[in-house]
Amino acid sequence: MTLGLFDEAPAPYTAPEVIAPGAALLRGFALEMDEVLLQAVEAVTAAAPLRHLVTPGGYTMSVAMSNCGALGWVSDRSGYRYDARDPLSGKPWPPMPAGFAQLALRAAAQAGFENFRPDACLINRYEPRARLSLHQDKDEGSMDAPIVSVSLGLPAVFLFGGLSRSDRPARYRLQHGDVAVWGGPSRLAYHGVAPLARGEHARLGAQRINLTFRCAR
Ligand code: SIN
Ligand code: FE2
Repeated sequence: MTLGLFDEAPAPYTAPEVIAPGAALLRGFALEMDEVLLQAVEAVTAAAPLRHLVTPGGYTMSVAMSNCGALGWVSDRSGYRYDARDPLSGKPWPPMPAGFAQLALRAAAQAGFENFRPDACLINRYEPRARLSLHQDKDEGSMDAPIVSVSLGLPAVFLFGGLSRSDRPARYRLQHGDVAVWGGPSRLAYHGVAPLARGEHARLGAQRINLTFRCAR
């Protein structure tokens, strides 16, 4: 990773920070392979461009999305679903890069979830003001596997609540290289991302990239 003159040097990963039963933050866990991840994101999004999906209610999402892996998460007027093909091209999503699957497997194990083999990776791009409202990840075929979420670029405020939408979410600052994992009793926890603050990241400029790994089947 490259640091700008006034950037704080991030601390290397030491241990998981448990935030709820089955949920942990692994601060700095992805730092040592950030360049590999970012180059793979560039290759994937060259083949399957980031796009703003429309919700079933007709809103255009502020976060731009793409996918890699056997299945990709999509939304349109007919609903949310996983699809083996990119609706923009009609072609299968780009395969999941080897480094992605490996990182997700290692991160899940740190949080206590062994043998995590994701078949879907959603790529989210946030520009300043983009946000993701509180939601549950519940379009996956099984709730046995955790969700592994990798943050790159500008810092964001991650909202992590409980199993009910009305549970007031806690706020965590996620920085470049941080990984969040939630599964088991937290698998259906409501979560979201507060509007991204303006900023300039040394490698990514004015954006945050998030990789979310799931077992969708
Ligand atoms: C998500 O819930 O899909 C993304 C969360 C994040 O961007 O940190
Ligand atoms: Fe989510």
